[in-house]
Amino acid sequence: MDLMVKDKVALITGGGEGVGRLVALMLAEEGSDVALGDVDLSKAESVAAEVSALGREALAFKVDVTKWEEVNEMVRKTIDEFKRVDMLVHVPGRGERKSFISSEKADWDFSVNLNLYGVLNTVKAVVGQMVEQRSGSMAFVVSDAGRVGETNNIVYSAAKGGVIAFSKALAKELGRHNIRVNCVALSAMNTPAGLQFREGLAAMMGKETPEELNKKILSNYVIRRFGEPEDAANALCFLVSDRAAWITGQTLSVNGGYCMV
Ligand SMILES: NC(=O)c1ccc[n+]([C@@H]2O[C@H](COP(=O)([O-])OP(=O)(O)OC[C@H]3O[C@@H](n4cnc5c(N)ncnc54)[C@H](O)[C@@H]3O)[C@@H](O)[C@H]2O)c1
Repeated sequence: MDLMVKDKVALITGGGEGVGRLVALMLAEEGSDVALGDVDLSKAESVAAEVSALGREALAFKVDVTKWEEVNEMVRKTIDEFKRVDMLVHVPGRGERKSFISSEKADWDFSVNLNLYGVLNTVKAVVGQMVEQRSGSMAFVVSDAGRVGETNNIVYSAAKGGVIAFSKALAKELGRHNIRVNCVALSAMNTPAGLQFREGLAAMMGKETPEELNKKILSNYVIRRFGEPEDAANALCFLVSDRAAWITGQTLSVNGGYCMV
């Protein structure tokens, strides 16, 4: 299916690997130019090279989405170069792997900064351009933790739930400007960070081998496998494309049936 994104411009935060990388490559294959921001510049540059090899323009930025100035600089340079931003896909996020009882304020600050403020910073930097264009679409990667709550991911659940509520309210504000806002809620994924997270969780719990823990986690999934970056990227690319022109303010869980809300 043609996504109808030819000659559009996509900005992808956390585009250096996993989900963000695949979104970049899929949109480039569909004819979009791509700006990639990642805290790891070498990863963003390597994905930019892959995009260029597909015959589309690509920019790579070193950006920490929790840093207001860096995010604004990335968006300013993207607009200088590409003159517009049609699609924003915001990926970065990280769980805590800690109970609330054992958590400290520094843990909350880290989680809220990355998982909630990261989205606010990026949207604030981009939204003026989309309003000026009178068009745009955004999709934020959240987690089912933000829909149903998860142990050892308490403040993360709060922050991701905050992004879901923010996306609905923002969709209401921006609809009149022809800008759509949606979320994709993921659960246990086979991304580099997801694999690392589960290894850390097994070590923290200390009761089971990583294989035993994986088996236990998967018993909660109707489709008994972990999510692949493609699963997430397919949904994100659809939601920011014109194929989803009448979809806004929604959260789509891409989760193998882990929870159904
Ligand atoms: N991995 C999972 O199992 C899982 C489960 C549910 C939800 N999610 C959500 O999916 C999204 C993607 O998670 P992921 O596991 O692929 O890894 P991730 O978000 O940690 O990493 C993706 C990319 O983002 C970059 N990144 C990390 N912090 C950044 C920052 N502050 N600024 C800019 N770039 C940054 C990384 O370098 C990496 O290239 C996150 O929002 C996460 O909360 C993941």
